[in-house]
Amino acid sequence: MTEKITISLIKADVGGYPGHSSVHPKLIETAKKGLTAAKDSGLLIDFKVLAAGDDLELLMGHRKGEDNEEIHSLAWNIFTKATDVAKELKLYGAGQDLLKDAFSGNIKGMGPGVAEMEFTERKGEPLVAFMMDKTEPGAFNLPIYRMFADPFSTAGLIVDPSLHAGFRFEVWDIMEHTKVFMNLPEEMYDILALIGAKSRYVIKRVFPKEEHPSLPPDEPVAAISTEKLFQTAGKYVGKDDPAGLVRAQSGLPALGEVIEPFAFPHLVSGWMRGSHNGPLMPVAFKDARCTRFDGPPRVIAAGFQISNGTLVGPADLFDDPAYDLTRRKAQEIAEYMRRHGPFEPHRLPMGDMEYTTLPDVLKKLEGRFEKT
Ligand code: F6R
Ligand code: MG
Ligand code: MG
Repeated sequence: MTEKITISLIKADVGGYPGHSSVHPKLIETAKKGLTAAKDSGLLIDFKVLAAGDDLELLMGHRKGEDNEEIHSLAWNIFTKATDVAKELKLYGAGQDLLKDAFSGNIKGMGPGVAEMEFTERKGEPLVAFMMDKTEPGAFNLPIYRMFADPFSTAGLIVDPSLHAGFRFEVWDIMEHTKVFMNLPEEMYDILALIGAKSRYVIKRVFPKEEHPSLPPDEPVAAISTEKLFQTAGKYVGKDDPAGLVRAQSGLPALGEVIEPFAFPHLVSGWMRGSHNGPLMPVAFKDARCTRFDGPPRVIAAGFQISNGTLVGPADLFDDPAYDLTRRKAQEIAEYMRRHGPFEPHRLPMGDMEYTTLPDVLKKLEGRFEKT
């Protein structure tokens, strides 16, 4: 079968329970009801509803392509209905990620995060949906770089002829709203100069190169949501917790290489009030609740085989003792970072904090600063 299908992962925080920690089961029920109707009508081939922290995650298989109005308005309507339920239950921050009152063709820039890929389904099509809470899109930079460009993580880049040419990365400047395509490994030092600055330069997609033996160069193999609510709304309204989709195997990183980078709990920004650095902890679905100091930031991985757009799964990939050591390390790092209290580098640099009293404090001290 060589039909083109689209996988869309669209997510929003439309109310937390309790506080900003998790999604209430009634919201999941509401989303399932709406998506079941869309499946019955033929709009969707299949769907799954998942939750990461306080984010409601809609994963959909369909034939409508990326940026499709029907799919995006379906997601918008579901988030709106879920917001009504959240308001009834007085869930915390009901509707917090829905920044506009009415849908206008495309959900981008309206608050929800979107990761979508249209591609020709292969004979065997493994796909992993990653969902993070209490962090920002740049949290994906390090693991995606490792998956598709670092041979110390993905052995296939060295030993598998079908990966040996490397991959093409699409990097966005989320402040200037521009993008650049870069070839790896040729431009390794240049791309690292950009994506190491993860609050501004974020990996949006990865593509096979022209010389890939079996995959078309214009069909993505990874896609990340890069909506930054802070940039979208002009003022802080909630975290831009990201999600991503990654295809695996047969000329791509193997499933185990796709999840290997998360064995290192790297520091990401977010956590309490979107204003702190902390470790990204990979957890099972049941542990995707942000508790200690509203965190630490967490990531879940839902594994699927795609069968003509049907989502066969999910397998809860981090529900695994192989990640116990990572979780332990993450907790040690969380403890170490917490002990810094209000000091950097636990607290984010001034420009990156999503809550701040600094302007008020400076105003209060006006006239008291003397020349040194
Ligand atoms: C971070 C997050 C939470 C809140 C914090 C304060 O992304 O969602 O850490 O920022 O709980 O929330 P408010 O201001 O709503 O009391
Ligand atoms: Mg919330
Ligand atoms: Mg969230």
